[in-house]
Amino acid sequence: MDSLQIFPFLRTIVLASLISIAYSQCPIYTHYANTRHEPFSNGTWSLSSMRPVQSCRSFYSEDVEKTIERMSNVIIDPDLFRLFENSWPSTLDTTVAWRGLSKPIEASAEGGKAEESAELSFVITGDIEAMWLRDSANQLQAYVSLLKADGGKDKDSLASLFRGAINLQARYILGDPFCNAFQAPDESGIPRHSSQNSDTISPSYDYYRVFSCQWELDSVASFLQLSNDYFTATGDWEFFGKHNWTRAVTKVLDITHAMTIDSYGEDGTWQHTPYTYCAPYGGTPINDCNGSPHRGNIGLVRSFQRPSDDSCIYQYLIPSNMMYSVALNSSSFIMSKLEDQKQDLTTRMRTMSTSIRNGIETYGVVQDPKYGRIYAYEVDGFGSAILMDDPNVPSLLSAPFLGYVPMSDKVYKNTRRKILSRDNPYYAWGPVLTGVASMHTRPGKPWPMANIMTILTSDDDDEIVRNLRWLLQSTDGLGVMHESVDAHNAASWSRQWFSWANGLFGQAILDIEKRKPHLLKMGYQ
Ligand SMILES: *[C@@H]1O[C@H](CO)[C@@H](O)[C@H](O)[C@H]1NC(C)=O
Ligand SMILES: *[C@@H]1O[C@H](CO)[C@@H](O)[C@H](O)[C@H]1NC(C)=O
Ligand SMILES: *[C@@H]1O[C@H](CO)[C@@H](O)[C@H](O)[C@H]1NC(C)=O
Repeated sequence: MDSLQIFPFLRTIVLASLISIAYSQCPIYTHYANTRHEPFSNGTWSLSSMRPVQSCRSFYSEDVEKTIERMSNVIIDPDLFRLFENSWPSTLDTTVAWRGLSKPIEASAEGGKAEESAELSFVITGDIEAMWLRDSANQLQAYVSLLKADGGKDKDSLASLFRGAINLQARYILGDPFCNAFQAPDESGIPRHSSQNSDTISPSYDYYRVFSCQWELDSVASFLQLSNDYFTATGDWEFFGKHNWTRAVTKVLDITHAMTIDSYGEDGTWQHTPYTYCAPYGGTPINDCNGSPHRGNIGLVRSFQRPSDDSCIYQYLIPSNMMYSVALNSSSFIMSKLEDQKQDLTTRMRTMSTSIRNGIETYGVVQDPKYGRIYAYEVDGFGSAILMDDPNVPSLLSAPFLGYVPMSDKVYKNTRRKILSRDNPYYAWGPVLTGVASMHTRPGKPWPMANIMTILTSDDDDEIVRNLRWLLQSTDGLGVMHESVDAHNAASWSRQWFSWANGLFGQAILDIEKRKPHLLKMGYQ
């Protein structure tokens, strides 16, 4: 998700190209979000105004504006409202880098099928000008509650923005199914720069089409999640029959099945996975760029990297398998509408969803001496397990949010108690912010995203209030969500423009409004 640290030499190129997409008279948001702007909120934290002026926003939705207006009367605390007002619309305000139509394809004499032009939306992650499958799906999820069953045909509707992202993700997956982040589509005319770096990845890819090619199971799960979010809200299954969706899902099934491979063949030969990755400075994944040995065919799917884009220690990443199992099952209902008699793909999706769930429950649960039966973060199928959590979603903390288990599930509750304690090796605490940190930004720096996820998976008023207070006091006066914040120094944080975390904060506030409205009626001064 944040590649600036993985490919530091790209930073200049990325910033240079951001200038090219900025509307000529608008400030460059990556700079804008680095400083405070008046009027400040009228509370202890005196938070900056962070929305660009209307003419500089990248997408306009009347429903979003109306919701912000409504929430100004729902949220009593001036600082908390400011945090919502800045954060929730961030994706629409700043990251819809391009929208348009694909070139129609004419039927060819050789039997190639005609395709009418398709909506396309290129949604960048924020301070990096590339579209992550994971980030863009989650960035848009912040607005799912506003999608409507009708009224979605309009080309300027939120529904159109969703369809454009689904079409573009399908194209990306068909071209480079193992990759996680992509460059602007040809049709946009946005200048692209080579993403070449010194990682050794097989299969190879085009540096002008792909921004980074890390095999992360949750990337393809995000495509299915986004599809299902759109379908559930609109009921519009016909859309999925128009372009490349079915082919993309078939590709996803094929490659994820291929990544269930055992490290050893029947006769004991060492087998390579269809994707291999070696970082330039040694380290993981070891063994000819395959990572640790894994027992294969146990239902679980291998992932080389975590949603933080850091290497897995063991490749059966349990949260990603949870997310993929749920997403396969839920999007299988779209497929069942598209398939007539033989429900081949629908059946494949459901069968795989079930076998992953069985794999998680058999190999992904371990006995902890203090907390009892808990979910492991990563396992290898031989009995080795990593017991921790990472703030990026999918995380173990987010399992109920993803729809894998209810909040009341016994094993989840045990796991959650451990994750949110000093018994999680990545837990970080201090006067500024307390929560889950990531190897991506080093221990000792909790990620606001994990505090937001704590809120979204909590039924405990005190816990929700505590986390809201931490979030309010840890923005360095800027009034937006950062990637990580030093637990002991609010002025030391990473990523000034991180739209996914911003949107997720808005989602959490809208969720509190539904579940616990009294918590928005109180002061946080
Ligand atoms: C700011 O808050 C103070 C104290 O609650 C209040 O007296 C004042 O009217 C507020 N100012 C504005 C501009 O809302
Ligand atoms: C659908 O796939 C075909 C073949 O891979 C490709 O040429 C076309 O551009 C894709 N459509 C869209 C809308 O991306
Ligand atoms: C798939 O969804 C159906 C309907 O919600 C549910 O009954 C079933 O248990 C789910 N299967 C899996 C493997 O999660």
